[in-house]
This record gives sequence, C-alpha cells and structure tokens, in this order.
Amino acid sequence: MMQKRIDELKIKISEAQIGGGQKRIDSQHSKSKLTARERIQLLLDNGSFEELGMLVIHRTTDFGMDEQLFYGDGVVTGYGSIHSRLVYVYAQDFTVFGGSLSETHAEKICKIMDLALKNGAPIIGLNDSGGARIQEGVRSLGGYADIFYRNVKASGVVPQLSAIMGPCAGGAVYSPAMTDFILMVEHSSYMFVTGPNVVKTVTNEEVTAEDLGGAHAHASKSGVTQLTAKNDVDALIQLRKLLAYLPQNCEEKAPSLPYTLKDETVLNLGDHIPNSPNQPYEIKDIISKICDPDSFYEIHSEYAENIVVGFARMEGQSVGIVANQPMVLAGCLDIDSSRKAARFVRFCDCFNIPIVTFVDVPGFLPGTAQEYGGIIKHGAKLLYAYAECTVPKVTVITRKAYGGAYDVMSSKHLRGDVNFAWPNAEIAVMGAKGAVEIIFREDKGDPAKLAAREAEYKARFANPFVAGSRGYIDDVIQPHETRKRICRSLAMLKDKKLENPWRKHGNIPL
Ligand code: HXC
Repeated sequence: MMQKRIDELKIKISEAQIGGGQKRIDSQHSKSKLTARERIQLLLDNGSFEELGMLVIHRTTDFGMDEQLFYGDGVVTGYGSIHSRLVYVYAQDFTVFGGSLSETHAEKICKIMDLALKNGAPIIGLNDSGGARIQEGVRSLGGYADIFYRNVKASGVVPQLSAIMGPCAGGAVYSPAMTDFILMVEHSSYMFVTGPNVVKTVTNEEVTAEDLGGAHAHASKSGVTQLTAKNDVDALIQLRKLLAYLPQNCEEKAPSLPYTLKDETVLNLGDHIPNSPNQPYEIKDIISKICDPDSFYEIHSEYAENIVVGFARMEGQSVGIVANQPMVLAGCLDIDSSRKAARFVRFCDCFNIPIVTFVDVPGFLPGTAQEYGGIIKHGAKLLYAYAECTVPKVTVITRKAYGGAYDVMSSKHLRGDVNFAWPNAEIAVMGAKGAVEIIFREDKGDPAKLAAREAEYKARFANPFVAGSRGYIDDVIQPHETRKRICRSLAMLKDKKLENPWRKHGNIPL
C-alpha cells in the first residue's frame, strides 16, 4: 500500500513540476521569461525552498474547467532562505491558465502571507498573471480582496517585496501597489489598471502596453516602480541585494555586517562643492564617499531625480539615505520628490533603519503647476514623515538650507537627533537677493545700495553659525570628518528609544 501511494505521489509531483506542460514552458522561455520554479530556485539560497500546496487544484466546473486540472493551480508557494534568513515566497506560474488568479490560487498566497505574519519574515511575490481567472468570476475577485487585506495587515510589520515579471493588469495591480517595493523587468512586464484597448475606446489615445505600463514608464513617469531589472536573473539578484539591508520584521533592528574600523577620514570631500553657490554638483559622489565602499544602493533612481533615496552601510550598519540633488532643479523640493522621500522615510521608520539626510535645498519649486498640483499637501507628507519617525536621524547640511525646506529636511525641530552643517552652509529664510528686495524695498532704485544690503544680509545670515549659536545645528564640521562624525552619532544612537503618543493612527495628508 505504502509503495503504491509513494509511486502515486511521485507521479503527482512530476506532473506539478512541469506546470502547464513543456509547450507552454517553451513559450515562456521564448519570451525571455523564466518559469515560476526557475525563478524561485534563483531567488532563494541553494536548496532552501520548501514548497507548500503543490497538490492544490481548482474547484471550478464551469466551461469545461473540470477537465483542465493542473497541480499547484498556477502559483508556486512556500518558504526558504535568502542570506540564510527566512523568507516566504509566491511565484505565479504563467504556464497554468496564464498565471490567472482563482479562489484556490488566492488561498495559497494567503496561506503563506499568514505564515509570514505569524513568524515575522518578509514576503516576496513574483507576479506573472493574466489577472482574475475569467472562468471563476466573483470568487476570483474575493480572492484578490483576501490578498489585499493581508497586504494591509502586513504593512509595516514585515517587509513586502513585489517583482513584476510578466502581465499585471486590472485590480491585480493593487496588491503590489500596497507592498513596500516594486521591481519591474524591462520589456517583459507591464502594469496598468486599464490596458491599451480600453484606453483607445475611452480616450481615443493610441498607446502600446510598453509605453503605457512598461518598466521605464513606471520607473520614470508614474513612480509606481522603485526598481527595474534588465531581465529575470537581474531582478532576482536585485531582490536578494535589497533584502540584505532590511530586518526581518518591525521588531528587529536593521542588519549590521561585521566591520573593522579604519581611518575614517575622507580626504578632499569638500572639493566637490563648487565655489559658486549657484553651481550644481553630484550629491551621489559625496554619498558614495561617505558610506562604506560600494554599499550605496539607490532606489527610485529614475523618478523625481531632484531627491536621492537609497540604502547604504555605515561601518556595516544598514542605513537609509535621503539627499537633495543639486544637479536636478537645483535640488528644490517639489510634489514628486516630497512624495518619493516621504514614502522612503516612512519605510525606514517602519523597519528601524536609521536615516542619514544630506541637505542642499534652495526651497520649494515655485509655479502654478506645483500649486495647482497640491504642493501644500504633498510637501507636508515629507514634513510629517520626518516629524513622526522615531529612528535615529543624522543630518548634514552640505550647502543650502533655505525656507520651509530647511525645516522639512530632518531639521532639529522635527526631532533630528544630530544635525551637522559644513562651514560653507547657508541656513536662512531665503536667499540674500530676495530678502533684500523685500526688506529694503525703498532702495529699489539704487543698485549700489541694494548690493551693499545684499552683502550685509549674506554676511549675517548665509552661514551655519547663527543656527549653530541657537543649537539648531549641533556642530559645524569640516567635510573630511563627516563620515567619522556620522558613524559616531549612529553608534551613540544605537539604542535610541522614542515613542509617539498613543492614537488610533495619525492623519498624514494623503
Ligand atoms: C483564465 C487565462 C487568463 C485569465 C490568460 N489565460 N489570462 N485564463 N483567465 N484571466 C490563459 C489563456 O487562455 C491561455 O491559455 C494562457 O493563459 C496564456 O494566455 P495567452 O493569451 O496565450 O498569452 P499571451 O498572448 O502572452 O497574453 C497574455 C494576456 C492575455 C495579455 C494576459 O492572456 C489576456 O489578455 N488575458 C486576459 C486578461 C484579462 O482580461 N484578465 C481579467 C482582467 S480583470 P492556453 O490554454 O491557451 O495556454 C481582472 C480583475 C481583477 O483581473 C480585479 C481584482 C480586484
């Protein structure tokens, strides 16, 4: 009896292994896409995958579905390890009903999400699906909602990562949308709520799937995806890389790699700052020199490039970096950059990742497009995020910190723990020219007098010493000692404890 059942089991396993069959696997490969099982093998540590629910089949009988049964029902689910740490994973199998989501398919995903929550480990979803299983109707919609609810329940409890590795359309987009990070594969994935045909019917616009919802469109235009990958293998390598910076759950500290202390002086760092305050420079050169070598991993690099966000390590400790980028829009804050940075700050706060902020901000971007677009509400998101967050916050003003943007960018007033400024920093309400034109309006017709007033204003206010004298800046430091001072600050703040007052939840201006 036992042997008979073992033989039966072996047949079922081998049937499950080939999903929708060799022909469909070949078709998947011909689109430069790996299968669900191949993806999981590459994602997880070698041999660590434990599959759950391999023998699940759907329960639909309509439209001849009772004659089309595939083990696993279009999704491979289970757990394994990445960098020897537990993760839960699901990978939709496009070779079975186009990876479409049935009631049972959804149940499998929900099962591993529940396990991830109970056991405090990240959830990774590899999406490749034609959407709701058309033969199932509302049962499939219910399945989606069951997943959405779990995405919300897991939000801020365990990291949730989504890779889009094929189609992801209609309401199906809302599960990835609620996860912490989305990564899209270039040319073989797309995401949209309504596809090109519906767009054409409703708006008469002609657009391809790639232009409407491909990786590039979402990385640079909508900002929906924070990461893009050249192909499936690159995508899976990047997911592994990203996870290395993250703790397992909200109760753990951010990971720290062993680090041997060296001479932490960074020579000639100040040479990156041009003599003219109006000349741009590449903030990423400064970030890379201050963080551990090759540790800076930029997130959302193609979107709102006037602000830079990403993960890095300082003496092995995982940190989040936020920095104004003087190369784009002079580093101004605008709607997109405020939203981008606010979401990143909140992610770091959820998962106990200290934040290092580099400030060079001339203010908020002026204009009707910004005002009509709601910069008041969107700018407030970043302010709110910094004020609310309780992780260690170290801030360095490398040049300008003007106006409201000074307050927003992790200032002392928003509970910045250690705030430094370089000697060339200008911390003031506004630039000297604008200030003088307002307060000395009566000298308007006298350029020489105005110039003298401007020089006087600059000398008095465009420096870090006024803020230093008030304690808004903890110390004015020289560029070469920045890395050492940030590392010491982070070490000092290692066991920081800070809690916000009890409430049901805050009301961030969404
Ligand atoms: C059942 C599906 C399916 C689906 C694809 N298939 N989508 N089966 N339900 N939603 C099946 C196909 O019949 C085919 O089966 C196999 O998957 C591969 O599909 P192809 O069309 O051959 O592949 P391709 O040419 O690559 O096109 C992929 C596709 C297309 C663009 C995704 O299949 C498609 O448009 N599918 C329908 C998409 C859709 O309208 N979904 C419902 C959206 S509404 P065989 O047997 O030939 O291999 C929705 C609401 C969610 O999702 C709401 C949540 C709140």
